[in-house]
Amino acid sequence: MNSAEIRSRFLAFFEKRGHTIIPSASLVTTDEKGITNPTLFNTAGMQPLIPYLLGEPYMKDGNTITRLVDAQKCVRTVDIDDIGDKTHATFFEMLGNWSLGDYFKKEAIEWSFEFLTSKEEGLGLDPNRLYISVFEGDAVAPRDEEAANIWRDVFKKNRIDSGGDTSVGEAGRIFYLPAKNNWWEAGENGPCGPDTEMFYDVENKFNGKLLTHAEYVAADDVRDVLEVWNDVFMQYEKKDGKIIGKLPKPSVDTGAGLERLTMTLQGVDNIYDTDLLKPVMDKIKELSKNLEIKSARIVADHIKAAVHLIADGVLPSNTDRGYVLRKLIRRAVRHSDTIKMSSDLVDIAKQIQAQYSKLYPNVMGIEGGVDVIGTIKKEELKFRETLAHGLKEFEKIALKDISAHDAFSLFSSYGFPIELTIELAKEKGIKVDVAGFDAEFKKHQDLSRSGAEQKFKGGLADANDPMVLRYHTATHLLHQALHDVLGEGTGDQKGSNITAERLRFDFTGVKLTDEQKKRVEDIVNEKIAEKLPMSQIIMPKAEAEQTGARHFFGEKYGDDISIYFIGPIAGSAPAKSDLARAYSKEFCGGPHVANTDELAGPEGKWKFKIQKEEASSQGVRRIKAVLS
Ligand code: ALA
Repeated sequence: MNSAEIRSRFLAFFEKRGHTIIPSASLVTTDEKGITNPTLFNTAGMQPLIPYLLGEPYMKDGNTITRLVDAQKCVRTVDIDDIGDKTHATFFEMLGNWSLGDYFKKEAIEWSFEFLTSKEEGLGLDPNRLYISVFEGDAVAPRDEEAANIWRDVFKKNRIDSGGDTSVGEAGRIFYLPAKNNWWEAGENGPCGPDTEMFYDVENKFNGKLLTHAEYVAADDVRDVLEVWNDVFMQYEKKDGKIIGKLPKPSVDTGAGLERLTMTLQGVDNIYDTDLLKPVMDKIKELSKNLEIKSARIVADHIKAAVHLIADGVLPSNTDRGYVLRKLIRRAVRHSDTIKMSSDLVDIAKQIQAQYSKLYPNVMGIEGGVDVIGTIKKEELKFRETLAHGLKEFEKIALKDISAHDAFSLFSSYGFPIELTIELAKEKGIKVDVAGFDAEFKKHQDLSRSGAEQKFKGGLADANDPMVLRYHTATHLLHQALHDVLGEGTGDQKGSNITAERLRFDFTGVKLTDEQKKRVEDIVNEKIAEKLPMSQIIMPKAEAEQTGARHFFGEKYGDDISIYFIGPIAGSAPAKSDLARAYSKEFCGGPHVANTDELAGPEGKWKFKIQKEEASSQGVRRIKAVLS
């Protein structure tokens, strides 16, 4: 049975039993109902339905409905390190049926059994290979004997032996487990309750045998029995991590991962061999010259998630959802290099679009002007640019274990996240001083907080973006060039704001003449053409003040100062003596490009251009400039 049929059978089965089919909500969570949703993305089918599980009526065409069914798109990133194994996926669909204060345990359990085992309407799984867990009870809520008894009855009615009481060491089919396994909640706030989980012996390892509690736990550990469905009995409400009472009407929330069900039905031992991922894997295999299965799976998984995230309106950035997306695309780039894929990630994304366009038309990016392919392409190019520079530096550094200082310089000058440095080092069999990096990072943050970077606050939010790094360095050049042209005592920085599209710089002075503007531009472009290194040096404050580096009155600095300077350096590492010959030097937390030639762009053709020079406030002028 293919995945599309599993999905549609599920919806039809419950529709026939009075449920209304509702469309999947976006992957992006909303909090419009005032419920604190702690996650960035919907990670379970119930999340978009929290208000209704708490008692708010679900209205459709003017009527309250109490039975719903859907296939909800989900993204989970907590397991990102497990991606590439047999069963974890970042993007997956969760099939679910809901009772909003309508039916409860009996119907939920009976229908679950019927759908799993019915050949006509369901999946036709062998009931002898099913194993069940229920909540064993604790101080918060009692043992769910009701659910256990309903299961016993269901098995009896279907002439399946469910065995004895597994809680006293007998062999059976129904197992009692603690809250860690059989309690469900979406976070610190919201509806929650005990659940019952259904496991299937996919490879028929036990041939229908009844298991003792210990045997079952061992089988679950090694996935000899695979969880395929979960019925949650929402009975309580939590606030700030504490149960505050029973829900006005108990509800049912169920969740069956489509990927896992498909794997079960298609008799394969991993989700990548199901029809949900196989076409993508085949495409990757076709393009790869050095197939390494885990990396290929990571590419498939991450790009699949990226396509759906962008389709739902997420854009790469350095915060929150955008950061997750960026991380997924960048990891995919790295792994596509590992397997030497001959074309770019866009080909993979197109394959995913082809597969999902019918079910989720927004993957084509037609809604709201979303550009799925363009976004992936742009992010890939941007990252490759960063990578290319950083990798060169990495090769120089990676002749031995990587020191905290070097790891940090890869981060601050090349935008290499520490995870990337660690991953690359692992490939080379060398170590990274991660603890040292963390300490350095913290020091840098303190420096930045108390130092000159404050003036860039907000403007440097996307600091790993190569364009932002370029504009940051261009701002230092502009600052010095203004002094070259206007003299000291004017041209002092009053503010700065940088985006990936332009720089904005406020300084003391009066309106520049056209000739002055031209001279400032020429100087900056000369310094770019001179290919000067940008270097960083850290020293105690008293010493830093002696260097003549520009800093800002009224700004609070810490005890250690980071100075960035532009100019030739004599040795292999920047030294204090180099500061005297520097063209520009400023107290600054970074980050910057490594060399001014990067401001000329990948093909060395860009020029620094002042687009606007205007009054900002009394005695303060504002320049907007671009590299293009
Ligand atoms: N909310 C339950 C789950 O996600 C059904 O497993």
